[in-house]
Amino acid sequence: MSEQDFIPKEYPKTVESGKVGWESPSNIALIKYWGKKKHQIPENPSISFTLTHCKTITSLSYIKKKKEDSEFSFEVYLDNEKKDDFKPKINTLFKRVEIYLPFLKAYEFTIETKNTFPHSSGIASSASGMSALALCLMSIERLFQPEMSDGFFNKKASFLARLGSGSACRSIEGDLIVWGHTDSVKGSTDLFGIKYPYKIHDNFKDYQDTILLVDKGEKQVSSTAGHNLMLNHPFAKERFQQAHYNIKALKPILESGDLSAFIKLIESEALTLHAMMMSSMPYFILMKPNTLEILNKIWLFRQQTGLHISFTLDAGANVHVLYPKNQASQILEFIKSELVAYCQNGHYICDQIGYGAQLIKN
Ligand code: DP6
Repeated sequence: MSEQDFIPKEYPKTVESGKVGWESPSNIALIKYWGKKKHQIPENPSISFTLTHCKTITSLSYIKKKKEDSEFSFEVYLDNEKKDDFKPKINTLFKRVEIYLPFLKAYEFTIETKNTFPHSSGIASSASGMSALALCLMSIERLFQPEMSDGFFNKKASFLARLGSGSACRSIEGDLIVWGHTDSVKGSTDLFGIKYPYKIHDNFKDYQDTILLVDKGEKQVSSTAGHNLMLNHPFAKERFQQAHYNIKALKPILESGDLSAFIKLIESEALTLHAMMMSSMPYFILMKPNTLEILNKIWLFRQQTGLHISFTLDAGANVHVLYPKNQASQILEFIKSELVAYCQNGHYICDQIGYGAQLIKN
């Protein structure tokens, strides 16, 4: 498929007003997207687990303008409070997607949104937030084109979400999503996320993700600024190649359920992401001392018990502790007794692998 396939022909129908709603989850990358080209095209392929509990719930009300003008007209509310500082990001999304959704300037929109995770948790809401909004926009487009298939709906929702925030394109469906073209994954594309098309061993069903909130402050480096650091990065070419290689290496691991090999691969990916940031110009250390304490404790506990506890990181200090469901009771006990002390105000979130966004009926 190409971008052109997402530009609609004339709509057979129109609507005056209404309201649609979606809840959409966050996701955590196992193989990281870090570096992008123009138009939100990733420099390398990535793969993520979709989450279940960390999500954004968004409703979008629309009413046809009496006379179409040249402005996007919308208001945004977070937890029932007007949020004008969200407007520039949404305006950018609208500008980028207008050609694919030509009705945008014909309506006045009210966006009401809330997250299930605390606002100041250091968890990025852009993946869940942008995917929820993209899905709402698709629900409106579907009213104009009732013949639209579910397959096309999801692809275009992912395509639009990507234009808001790259990783958001991996939040439409679950449980494992690949985004970015790579020869080892059939159907993979830079334009939108696809469901991982090969066998996944039962060891990875209901995989657990306990998010340790080490630092709940504002991100030191925004992800857009972070991606830009890869533009002139001395190791960029090797890193982008490595991501292709790692996705290929993950395939037999996902099929056989080899948890030890899985752990090696994803921990190395997490540390490589941080190594890229440390070796950028300007350079950043996004881990905090407590992040390192946690990683060392995880390694020691794994060595002592043989349990399959592991971690991944996003572009910040928080730690995602990953483990299989059937080892959850022992590992959760360890997390509570040994790791939570390193979290800011003792805060952590228990999540697990999930199956994608849900339409809110009525
Ligand atoms: C480190 O998707 O937040 O979490 O496209 O600029 O919105 P933008 O970036 P974003 O980047 C996510 C980076 C990451 C790795 C990943 O999720 O793959």
